[in-house]
Amino acid sequence: MIRELSGDEVALFGEYIDKTRAFFLSTNVRPKAYVHSYGCQQNVSDGEKIKGMLAEMGYDFTDTPDNVDLILLNTCAVRENAEDKVFGNIGAFKKLKESNRRLIIAVGGCMVQQQHIAEKLKASYPMVDIIFGTHTVHELPRMLYDKLTKNLGCVNIPDGDGVLTESIPVRRDNAIKAYVPIMYGCNNFCTYCVVPYVRGRERSRKADAVVSEVKELIQQGYKEILLLGQNVNSYGKEHGIGFAELLRRLDAIEGEYKISFMTSHPKDCTRELIDVIADSAHIEHHIHLPVQSGSDRILKAMNRSYTTEHYLGLVEYAKSRIPDLSLTTDIIVGFPGETYEDFRQTVKLMETVRYDMAYTFIYSKREGTKAADMDDPVSDKEKGLWMRELLEVQGDIGLENYRKYIGKILDVLCEGRDKNKPEYLTGHSRQNIIVRFAGGDELVGSFVKVKITKAMPWAVEGETVGDTD
Ligand code: 5AD
Ligand code: SF4
Repeated sequence: MIRELSGDEVALFGEYIDKTRAFFLSTNVRPKAYVHSYGCQQNVSDGEKIKGMLAEMGYDFTDTPDNVDLILLNTCAVRENAEDKVFGNIGAFKKLKESNRRLIIAVGGCMVQQQHIAEKLKASYPMVDIIFGTHTVHELPRMLYDKLTKNLGCVNIPDGDGVLTESIPVRRDNAIKAYVPIMYGCNNFCTYCVVPYVRGRERSRKADAVVSEVKELIQQGYKEILLLGQNVNSYGKEHGIGFAELLRRLDAIEGEYKISFMTSHPKDCTRELIDVIADSAHIEHHIHLPVQSGSDRILKAMNRSYTTEHYLGLVEYAKSRIPDLSLTTDIIVGFPGETYEDFRQTVKLMETVRYDMAYTFIYSKREGTKAADMDDPVSDKEKGLWMRELLEVQGDIGLENYRKYIGKILDVLCEGRDKNKPEYLTGHSRQNIIVRFAGGDELVGSFVKVKITKAMPWAVEGETVGDTD
């Protein structure tokens, strides 16, 4: 059931924020927190809410876990290696806890929403004080207050779908690009995926709430609005305003900005949506359209609810309506029962679609999902070889696609200095392609025209030819 926080709950939430801030003031402590979010942008967005609450409680933030009052890990469950990393990090915090009696360690997010993980943490990681799931983020102020004032730790992981709340403050990490979740949860139950189990059923924010948040962000000077949801294409079913209509309303907002979104599910991605993108002023000419596999047999076993024929039809229509469209995808290699012949069909599909970029993952068994019970006879070594083959093919395609931009002018949102080559600025084009170029810091946060001179497999390089206005 979809439920919004009641007035009383919102009041209680605010009360605990105030009480915790007062506690720190009374003890003359200016608390410091290290907050780390793993995984997808949805999780990063949750992390911004966590930081928003902590900031209101009086916390400052640092980039390292040394000498802090609070370490908070916001975890991811989508693949096993993400979980291994978290356990490794928590183990390493034991020493910090021994040398700093004030330190509170909190672990939240998708990974701990799984019962078996919460139990493992409770049994074997006594240095963790607060364990909270995806549905109790808004209860963090109370959990922290109880730990600080009564030394009460807790495990707070109720089942269900959680609440929708418009009341949590957000502390945005990026001054140019704002993450805006439009829906939470997922109803699809792809057989490999743990998300529906840890994030609950689909629930959408009201269109009016999204539109007013985006208007405000644009007024504040944000230049990119990234709309987030596990399956944005099924946005709004419960309110009668679908994703295409939401995009239309957002695109009508005046200003110089762009709108991007992720993730799209091919079964729900409509031609209407493609038309809205094609006719828009602000929406990126980029669709991240995870195909997962190019074999119909495997798509069926994954419960993806589309065929390669449907997918390719959609791609063809999108390319015809948006000639400079950039397509990216997710692919799982080595799903249980996948044969080399199935895998080759994925390679063939990639050669047909010609993605700019593919995010490729070796299948990772997730407890509680349907695929975890399927026979999986192919060895990890063999899957690794398939993965290498796929990466080589995609590398060549990406480079060929990017070479087509040489000599062309792209509109680029300049996001800052390139981390690896600080003599360059970097940003993304309207097609969401990474563009590197020389220029002064005054360009950061503005849209710049860049003439492309060089292509690499993951980005292009060029020279500025003046601002877009
Ligand atoms: N194993 C490997 N990859 C997975 N993904 C989701 N679940 C798994 C899993 N169990 C991938 C899918 C999804 C992306 C976010 O992560 O490709 O689109
Ligand atoms: Fe997982 Fe499928 Fe939902 Fe994506 S659509 S979150 S892959 S169940």
